[in-house]
Amino acid sequence: MDSRPKLNILFSRDEIEAAVRRLATEIGRDYHDRFPLLIGILRGSFVFMADLIRQLDFPLEVDFIGAASYGCSTRSSGQVKLSHRLQSEVRGREVLLVEDIVDTGLTTACLLDYLRRKKPASLKLCALTDKPSRRKVPITIDYLGFTVPDRFLVGYGLDLGQKFRNLPDICALEEA
Ligand code: IMP
Ligand code: MG
Repeated sequence: MDSRPKLNILFSRDEIEAAVRRLATEIGRDYHDRFPLLIGILRGSFVFMADLIRQLDFPLEVDFIGAASYGCSTRSSGQVKLSHRLQSEVRGREVLLVEDIVDTGLTTACLLDYLRRKKPASLKLCALTDKPSRRKVPITIDYLGFTVPDRFLVGYGLDLGQKFRNLPDICALEEA
């Protein structure tokens, strides 16, 4: 019996490549002479990050941060539960946070707060996908790939129970 979920391609690898190129052009215009620090949110952003930085032809640094899911309930106390810590100094840097998908916005809001407290020179957000219908907290996305419907997505780094990150296309789970 086949218990694999049915997947429909929402954005093909070619469409993703075009979107990543467009984002790189926008980011390059703003950051080419600023030696930015790109910070990817683990684990979902690693595929996007790998493609994005290879379209950026100026000096930059890359780091990753992991937030335990919804570990932001202690936000007001300034504590974020991190599953992976930054290795880089953020103070005074031009920071671009790189996310795979902004859904409720809680993870992103939490990490933006966390980074802002470290006093970067600037802090902006790049997200490959945005699911605005599910938003619980307002988020400004400075560089956005795709707006997506309220469907569960996998592929290109996005997972379902840690699976499907390796799919080259972004797929939506078929609704039952
Ligand atoms: P948030 O709800 O905006 O905090 O999103 C938190 C995280 O949930 C994202 O960074 C993703 O890793 C994950 N997530 C949200 N929607 C999806 C989806 O459709 N597919 C896979 N992961 C998702
Ligand atoms: Mg994520």
